Amino acid sequence: MANGCIGIDIGSSSLKIAEYSKNKIHLFSESMPDNMVSEGQVLSLEAMSQFIKETLKKNHISEKKCSVILPDTLVFTRRINMPFMNSEQLRVNIPYEFHDFINDDKDKYVYDYAMLDLNESNEGHKEIDLLAAAALKSTIDNYRGMFKRAGLKMSIAIPSVMAYTNLIYLLEGKKKNFEQSETGEKKDEYCFIDLGHTKCRIHIFDGHKLSASRTLDYGLNMIDLAIAEEKNVDVHIAKRYKEAQSGGILESEGCMNIYNSIAVEVMRAINFYRFNNQESNLSSAFICGGGGMIEPLIKALAESTALELKSANDILSYAGNFDTNGEIFVCAVGAAIQ
Ligand SMILES: Nc1ncnc2c1ncn2[C@@H]1O[C@H](COP(=O)(O)OP(=O)(O)OP(=O)(O)O)[C@@H](O)[C@H]1O
Ligand SMILES: [Mg+2]
Repeated sequence: MANGCIGIDIGSSSLKIAEYSKNKIHLFSESMPDNMVSEGQVLSLEAMSQFIKETLKKNHISEKKCSVILPDTLVFTRRINMPFMNSEQLRVNIPYEFHDFINDDKDKYVYDYAMLDLNESNEGHKEIDLLAAAALKSTIDNYRGMFKRAGLKMSIAIPSVMAYTNLIYLLEGKKKNFEQSETGEKKDEYCFIDLGHTKCRIHIFDGHKLSASRTLDYGLNMIDLAIAEEKNVDVHIAKRYKEAQSGGILESEGCMNIYNSIAVEVMRAINFYRFNNQESNLSSAFICGGGGMIEPLIKALAESTALELKSANDILSYAGNFDTNGEIFVCAVGAAIQ
């Protein structure tokens, strides 16, 4: 585990930074200026460099090494089962496993993987189970340049599922070495529901292995619209009302309707997973993202999904001590401990 690294998650509503050193975590967030991020992607690398630089300075963050979350729109992630092979053979073979996703020149991409398991069939054939990721080289170069201009050295860029996997490893108290994982034992399932500003993302893991991911076009920006309409104010003002949570604003009929819509969509995704995984005993989920601060939304979700909803702070506590609410920082911390 790295000591002395910052994890960075660039969201559409806020920039999240987790400074991780000697089992202590310092968490910093800054509201994202308008028109900086769309669909998870940075619109101006120059402007983002400047914004990150200012945020580091403002918060007296001196650490230079950073691990970064890549938006789902810029990285392909998939589980792969392959015959056992060494790392050099994997380097050659993994690109072919992405042929369903990558139509243009596969050499334009960089590939990475995390080893999840080693299985042996009855016939004695060894198989490996991987979580592999592919991103355009140009994306990685752009990100590296963006962080360099902000005064940082990007050591790694990972998809969010890898950040969650890192936290599960911590929680399970397991080493990252697949050879040391116990075989044959039924692993706990972990579900993360990220209620972000523009999207709701659900990731379900069987032990540390990703089993399902779903992104819903439902976000907390819908609440801003409901408040804007109800109070006849601009959405920026409505967003501030929402964050201040004053005067029962989050219990209005318009807001309640949004919570119920989100809750129904999340329930459908969870039920779909349960239907396809009949042996699943999924009974709880960690709530991440800004939605973790909205109690009536959590209540609606708990009722619709029949899951025990836990605060993301519970899982972050395995990474170290921190002094603020951690909901929005889950991916940033997961990246910092990479
Ligand atoms: N105290 C609060 N009460 C209610 N909502 C809040 C509060 N603080 C932040 N939010 C809302 O949480 C959202 C930001 O959450 P988060 O940082 O998880 O989103 P994001 O990562 O920027 O978005 P996305 O993942 O969709 O790109 C915004 O809608 C913000 O207004
Ligand atoms: Mg987010």
